Amino acid sequence: MLRFRSLYGIGRSINKASGRLRHPLLRSYGFKGKPKVSIIGCGQFAFSTIGFFIRKTKGLIFLNCYDIDADNAKSLAHYFRFEKVAPSVEALLSNPKLEILYIASNHATHTPYAIEAMKHGLKTIYLEKPISVTEEQFVSLIAHKRKYQATLFAGYNRPYAQAVRKIYTALDQNTIKQKDAAFSMNFFISGHQLSDDHWYRRPEEGTRVCGNVGHWIDLAIHILAWRNLPKQLQVQVAYSNLEEPDDNMNITMTSDQGDLISIMLSARSEPFEGINETVNFQYQNVIAKVSDFRELTIWKQDKLIKKKFWPKDVGHKRAILQPFETENRDWSEVECSTLLMLFITQMVRQKTTSATFELESALAEFNALVAIKSKSLLTTSNVKNNAEQLK
Ligand SMILES: NC(=O)c1ccc[n+]([C@@H]2O[C@H](COP(=O)([O-])OP(=O)(O)OC[C@H]3O[C@@H](n4cnc5c(N)ncnc54)[C@H](O)[C@@H]3O)[C@@H](O)[C@H]2O)c1
Repeated sequence: MLRFRSLYGIGRSINKASGRLRHPLLRSYGFKGKPKVSIIGCGQFAFSTIGFFIRKTKGLIFLNCYDIDADNAKSLAHYFRFEKVAPSVEALLSNPKLEILYIASNHATHTPYAIEAMKHGLKTIYLEKPISVTEEQFVSLIAHKRKYQATLFAGYNRPYAQAVRKIYTALDQNTIKQKDAAFSMNFFISGHQLSDDHWYRRPEEGTRVCGNVGHWIDLAIHILAWRNLPKQLQVQVAYSNLEEPDDNMNITMTSDQGDLISIMLSARSEPFEGINETVNFQYQNVIAKVSDFRELTIWKQDKLIKKKFWPKDVGHKRAILQPFETENRDWSEVECSTLLMLFITQMVRQKTTSATFELESALAEFNALVAIKSKSLLTTSNVKNNAEQLK
């Protein structure tokens, strides 16, 4: 608790511990507002991050929650004073008071739950990462998004971290889009050590590329978009152990614009304080280093900028609040990063070491598939497919 307090402050540390203990004597307090937020998936992230930041900034505005683990749903509802636990997803989605849905269940169900929500007429949906684990899911998600004109938000939080925003503002805004300028980015991540039977490892959940590495693929795409996205990425994957290809690996990407990106996931022991990461960055005359989103150093020629973040700010608060804000990141970035993530997932599944990702043609192909899917949305087989995936 002492260590966590020094990282996150006392309130969040107590909340995190409460999420692990789930004791009936533990309850949160705060202003009670109009209940309008429901949550599907009542695990640790819903408890320690989604519930925490909504309660802290918007008050107790929780409507219904649902989880296949009834105890998890009951304890989340008790702690955050939800109106009630929904007996089914159908009941949760049919509640006329529902305005904002958060989906924080297992990875394979994010897309099918979001689609069900859109079919129930819901317009504001926050999907934890990854938003989809297969291309088929992703095509269907975006076809429904376009059909129902829903606003989706993704749980990729790092673009909202203060350190990342500060690096952006340190760049020269007049020349940031300079065509021949190239980014160098390096991400070193000490990730959680997952047991062999952890649910992230189930084949249908999309590997750790979908489960974890997607964060840095998305951050890289977000940063590249500050200039403009390259047309092509040459992707190289180095596996330290082919028996466990999605653990302890390095992904290197170079682009037709000269960008150089490296993402190393190391998970050889459990990081006591949670995922720990270092970001090194260089673009034009700016060099930056982010130490676990607690410290930032920027060198801009003769200027030196140092900043500490307490509590540690990996962007969770601002990411969770996306549905309440008007100025959010461009959704098209999430579509690009998801396409790239699914491409790399496929490489890792096949243990491929080198492949070329053509962004323009991947987007064109994807949009063509979305258009085909949109046309066929009203057929009963689609309804069945979605119901099957949820089962
Ligand atoms: N953005 C981030 O930094 C971040 C960090 C941690 C987790 N997450 C994401 O949050 C989500 C939840 O992760 P977690 O750490 O809370 O895991 P968890 O294992 O603590 O919780 C997952 C919950 O989902 C429930 N669940 C499983 N299948 C379900 C289904 N079919 N329908 C409804 N509920 C179901 C489980 O019973 C469990 O309560 C995942 O998508 C994960 O990737 C995001």
